[in-house]
Amino acid sequence: MSRSGLVLAASVLLLSAGSAAAQPAGNAENGAEVFKKCRACHMIGEGARTLIGPPQNNLIGRTAGTFPGFSYSALNKAAGEAGLVWNEQTIFDYLPDPNGYLKKFLTDKGKADQATGSTKMAFKLSDEQDRRDVIAYLKTFSK
Ligand code: HEC
Repeated sequence: MSRSGLVLAASVLLLSAGSAAAQPAGNAENGAEVFKKCRACHMIGEGARTLIGPPQNNLIGRTAGTFPGFSYSALNKAAGEAGLVWNEQTIFDYLPDPNGYLKKFLTDKGKADQATGSTKMAFKLSDEQDRRDVIAYLKTFSK
């Protein structure tokens, strides 16, 4: 490969790595499988009701802690009041460590005093591809 070819290949790699982090693209079909783990606590789709956690219809674009009638932890609610909105990036960053994410969000907003207690979401999803896929699945239930 010529030198310029190498440089080009390297910049394409860099570009794709950058955009992968900015806009997680997942596979909704695989995401339906991943969502089975969430179903222990969250319902989605027609007739979804509150289980242990709030329903996940229209999650993308929803302010954290605002599903009507759900009794959220003070931590989850405070993050929403401080401006946390669920979108592809925030859900992606939240899932590996919900508690840590909410606390960091509040601390970064200058509300460290509210970054106490813990979320009721006692579940972590760390695998990157699983997170991308489950988000693609959630998107199919959001307007
Ligand atoms: C063991 C039960 C449980 C599992 C499994 C679970 N969750 Fe949760 N989740 C909760 C609870 C309870 C809350 C409410 C958190 C609070 O009030 O602090 C929640 C909150 C959330 C929120 C914030 C909702 C809001 O309205 O602010 C998101 C996003 C979320 N869960 C996504 C998921 C996804 C995606 C999965 C599967 C990968 C999942 N959860 C699996 C129990 C669970």
